[in-house]
Amino acid sequence: MNTIEKKKRRIHKSIEKIFKNRNSIPNFIAGETQISTGLAVYDHLEINAVIDTLLDGWFGLAEKGDEFEKALSRYLSVEHTVFVNSGSSANLLALDAVKQLKNPEKKEIITPALAFPATFNPIVQLGFKPAVVDVDNTLNISLEQLLSAVNENTAGIMFTHCMGNPAKIDEICEIAEKHDLFIIEDTCGALGSFYNDKPCGSFGTASTYSFYPAHGITTGEGGAVATNDQELDMIIRKLRDWGRDCRCKSNALDIDGECNNRFNYRIDNFYYDHRYVFSQLGYNMKPLELQAAMGIEQLKKLDAFNKQRKKNFNLYKQELSQFKDFIELPEIYEQADPVFFGLPIIINNPNIDRRDLLIFLNRKKIATRLLFAGNILKQPGYRDIECSVYGNLSVSDKIMKDCFWIGIHPGITEEMISYVINAFREYFSSQV
Ligand SMILES: Cc1ncc(COP(=O)(O)O)c(C=O)c1O
Repeated sequence: MNTIEKKKRRIHKSIEKIFKNRNSIPNFIAGETQISTGLAVYDHLEINAVIDTLLDGWFGLAEKGDEFEKALSRYLSVEHTVFVNSGSSANLLALDAVKQLKNPEKKEIITPALAFPATFNPIVQLGFKPAVVDVDNTLNISLEQLLSAVNENTAGIMFTHCMGNPAKIDEICEIAEKHDLFIIEDTCGALGSFYNDKPCGSFGTASTYSFYPAHGITTGEGGAVATNDQELDMIIRKLRDWGRDCRCKSNALDIDGECNNRFNYRIDNFYYDHRYVFSQLGYNMKPLELQAAMGIEQLKKLDAFNKQRKKNFNLYKQELSQFKDFIELPEIYEQADPVFFGLPIIINNPNIDRRDLLIFLNRKKIATRLLFAGNILKQPGYRDIECSVYGNLSVSDKIMKDCFWIGIHPGITEEMISYVINAFREYFSSQV
């Protein structure tokens, strides 16, 4: 072993020691430790992988990027996965690419009102008109409403598996096939959720993922687009990298590039280095190689993380049923096997004031979040959006007014859950 390798080994050992003395999940002190909605759970394995990549001195996506994308494709049961710098970028890239291949002349996209901005915004930003429909009691796009919104201008459907709870994707696919529509599955909060024994995200024309800490795995910031369509994959990659036509690795040492053709490209009657040929109006949405190194390690832990999320969900479901006169959880389709991103709780009693309950929980160090934008059309920045609205969006409105979510991530322990349940008990017993 050379000296550099020996020094690296020493660094690895030191980092490992730090993590031996520091749990990846903080010790819980009731009433003092924040019970968070999201937490990056990692240890020396991720840190050492990142350090190795930093020491290699190459920051742009290279071998680790490839390895992470391949591992993701295997996990998701899809042919191609493109690693990008966030889930929001993934949605923008997916739609920008899909619209070039499918229904380019059509201008409406059906999407639920109950949304996170990153799912809704690309529709408007890319010049489509949102056809806004309601959700059902699983918090997912209502099939009845979806059908009522389909018309000759409909290009596709873009929706979320809300909070990790699978939408009725088999029937959405049937509708899409019948009317020749594309599907973009925002799977940002549903990595590891299944429907009919198939991973969410493996059904649509393209699907998207987020690796921000509250999500299934984390690369700090980060995301991905997955598809089974090779041409789509190529367009997404180009759009991610400024629209660059050349797909050779930027660290390829061969002077002709990996394709052996770098200096043979012609524009008009002269040669032009293929690395500076741009065949798409693209963006820069590239993540870093060190994020890929972290992602590889995180992905190895995903099954264990999801097992813990499911355990937390089941415990909460069982315990919270004692408060059924005050709160309820969303329904789950029979064919769905969800891994919840967070635990959505819906107040079903008119005497419970959400604001008061949330202040009570937060004072007890139980972090809460609202279900993203709620009915996004009610948000100040969206009031003047040109869109078609189908139905009265009453479920989205109810969720906006009466729902919130708490953490269920792998850093949540049984001890924390019993503390949260006691807090709910204290609050609800003071309300009767
Ligand atoms: C459903 C959904 N889509 C997209 C995103 C955006 O992901 P990112 O934060 O990585 O941009 C989020 C983030 O929480 C999300 O919940």
